[in-house]
Amino acid sequence: MSIFLDTGKISEVERFMEMGIIRGVTTNPTILLKDGVTGGMAGVRKQSIQIAKMIEPYPLSVEVTNNDPRGMLDQAREFAQWAENIVVKITIHGPEGELENLEVVHRLETEYDVRINVTAMMSAQQCFLAALAGASYVSIFGGRVNNMGYNVCDEIIKLRNVLDQFELKSKIIVASTREILNVIEWLEAGGHIVTVLPALLEGMVVHPYSKETVKMFLDDAARL
Ligand code: G3P
Repeated sequence: MSIFLDTGKISEVERFMEMGIIRGVTTNPTILLKDGVTGGMAGVRKQSIQIAKMIEPYPLSVEVTNNDPRGMLDQAREFAQWAENIVVKITIHGPEGELENLEVVHRLETEYDVRINVTAMMSAQQCFLAALAGASYVSIFGGRVNNMGYNVCDEIIKLRNVLDQFELKSKIIVASTREILNVIEWLEAGGHIVTVLPALLEGMVVHPYSKETVKMFLDDAARL
């Protein structure tokens, strides 16, 4: 079980790596845009290489930027050259439900030896199929599932059981964190990894009652 950081910010990666509490980083185009990465593919490359170096040997997930089968295949192979610890993210299907994505995932894992994280999934059944296709990681978006009105923990439990029964190698990443309590509950349900926003990770560490207790120790130490 481990925690990844869901960010494209160098300073956040550095901060949590130095604390020794993260075991990988995940990004996507939306995160990179929000975190101020510019300059098109050259900008993505520069940022990715820098983060990958900071966290090696832990994995960095970088997502392809198009949904054309040939384009995804070529881009994934290119990203994988940037650093040994890069994992390429490919969505479960295209924006209109195009099915070629899993074929691309299968080819990359089996023919080209590229590690793939299949992403944007909302159910155990999607993740199971991605695992059968050979994905190293399967990402289910916990916060989005919960927002649709059902509890992602039920999906995680089912998925973990099926992966274990079929002896599939895929690791479950639960993403789209919304609340601090998500991290422990999703790991407890059977997720191998939860990828957490920096602000939530900070919130996991700091507790108001701990603050008060530390103040008490320091005040009393001064009076000794
Ligand atoms: O890692 C996936 C994540 O970035 C999606 O999160 O908050 O947009 O549902 P969110």
